[in-house]
Amino acid sequence: MTQTPQLGVREVVATPPAPLRRAWGRRQVLDLDNYSPAEIEEVLHNSAVMKEVLQRDIRKVPTLRGKSIATLFMEPSTRTRVSFEQAGKILSADVINVPGNGSSAEKGESLYNTALTLQAMNTDIIIIRHPHAGAPHFLARHLESCVINAGDGSHAHPTQALLDLFTIRSKLGKIKGLRVAIIGDILYSRVARSGLWGLTKMGAHVVLCAPPTLMPQDFVNGYRSTKGHPLASVQIEARVEHALEDADVVMALRLQLERQGSGHLPTVREYSRMYGITSQRLQLAKPGALVMHPGPMNEGVEIDPDVAHGTRSVIEEQVTNGVAVRMALLYSLVTPVRGERDKDRTPPHETSGDR
Ligand code: CP
Repeated sequence: MTQTPQLGVREVVATPPAPLRRAWGRRQVLDLDNYSPAEIEEVLHNSAVMKEVLQRDIRKVPTLRGKSIATLFMEPSTRTRVSFEQAGKILSADVINVPGNGSSAEKGESLYNTALTLQAMNTDIIIIRHPHAGAPHFLARHLESCVINAGDGSHAHPTQALLDLFTIRSKLGKIKGLRVAIIGDILYSRVARSGLWGLTKMGAHVVLCAPPTLMPQDFVNGYRSTKGHPLASVQIEARVEHALEDADVVMALRLQLERQGSGHLPTVREYSRMYGITSQRLQLAKPGALVMHPGPMNEGVEIDPDVAHGTRSVIEEQVTNGVAVRMALLYSLVTPVRGERDKDRTPPHETSGDR
C-alpha cells in the first residue's frame, strides 16, 4: 500500500492524493464482467491511495472540485449511498442526493426523464440504485453523464465487489489462489454475481453454497458445463460444511426476503439451521479465515451475532473500504486519460482474453 506522510491542514488542502494511476478510459461502472484484471488492479491501487486520505486528520482533498455528483436511489440503502456521498465530499465534489421517495418519480416521471433532468443540471456522475436489472445500463446508453451502478435488482453490484476484493487483498495480501466460500441467497444476490466476476478474474477459487431453491440454474447447468467460460471453474456445494472446508474467506449473504416469492424455503428458522454461519461451523474454515458480509445483516439468520462481531469478522472494515474504493472510482471516471480507449463499448465476455 502506498504510504504518504500525515500532512497538516494547509498541505492537505493543497495536495491531491498521489500517485494515482489512470490508464483506462471508462466512463461507466456497470458490472465487472467487462473489466480486465489490469483494470481491477488499477482500482485496487487507487483505493489504497484513497484509503490513506481517509486516515488523515483532515479528510478533504480538492481532486473533484467543481464536479457534481447525483445519487439516484430508487431502493433503500445505508452503506452504498452514504459512502458515495462521503467519497464525493472528501474529494470536494458537490453531491446531490435524489431519493426515490419525494422525487418527481412519485408523480410518474420516467427514469429516463429523471436522469435527463439531472444531466441538464450539469451532473458529471449519476449513481443509480434501482429495483430493475439493467436500469443503469439503459441510462449509460442514453446519457453523456458518467453512470455508476449502485445495485440493479438481482443483477449486479460492482462497487460492492470491488470493495470486497480490496478488503480481501488488504487483509490476506493476495486474491489469487484463495478459496472464497459465498454462502446464502445466491439466486437473488447481485453481490454474488458481481463478486463472482471479480474474484474469478483475480484468480480466486469460488465456492457457491445455497439451498437448491436459491441456487441459479444457469450457474449449475450453464456456466460450469460451458468449456472455457470464465465462470466454469466455480464450485457449487449444497452442504455448508463442504463449502466452508479450508476456506480462506467466508462471505455470508443476506436472505433477501423482499425479493423472494413464496416456496423457496420451508421456514427462515430451517434455513438458519441448515445454512447459518455459526462459530462451530466456522472452525471448518482455515485458521484466520476472514468473515465477510455485504450488509445489511439478518443476525441470527444467515450469520450468528458472535461470528458477525467476532475476531475474524472484517464486516466493518468492508464499510470503511467502501468509501476508499468509491473515491477511486469517482476519481477515475471524471479524470481524462491521454489516448483514451472506451472499454465500455466492448460487449461482455469479449474480454476473456485478458484473464
Ligand atoms: N451492501 C449494500 O449494498 O448495503 P446497502 O443496501 O446498505 O447500500
